[in-house]
Amino acid sequence: MFSITTLFSQTYRTGIATSAAVLLSGIMMTGANAADIATTYNNSCAACHDSGALNAIKKGDSAKWQQLIKQKSMPTLIKSVKNGMTQMPAGGLCSGCSDADYRELIEYMSK
Ligand code: HEC
Repeated sequence: MFSITTLFSQTYRTGIATSAAVLLSGIMMTGANAADIATTYNNSCAACHDSGALNAIKKGDSAKWQQLIKQKSMPTLIKSVKNGMTQMPAGGLCSGCSDADYRELIEYMSK
């Protein structure tokens, strides 16, 4: 029966516990799920998009978001976030976000 404890005791014996731990945490970080997106949103985008600070489109204003997605298309919106806009810093304060993350964040805000 495989378990993390077993793996750790085995890797201790072979003396590569540190690299195994790094590898394991790497596996745990990949594969964004809904909870990750909510956390990323809270850490990066919420500062402006929760309150509508600086005239940012608010999270949950689905009418406005849907209109924007229709008008500009999703790839353009993702590009906007990556390049930054007049008031929005490039990357929207998320240094580790991928295009797929931005898409999910935009979809999350549009609901
Ligand atoms: C410092 C404030 C701030 C942060 C942080 C921020 N935004 Fe924005 N965002 C804005 C503002 C303000 C606008 C409206 C355009 C402008 O004036 O810059 C905007 C516009 C947008 C748009 C519309 C782009 C377009 O082409 O019209 C998207 C999509 C967006 N933000 C996504 C995000 C995402 C995703 C994050 C988090 C990773 C984020 N923003 C973080 C302030 C912010």
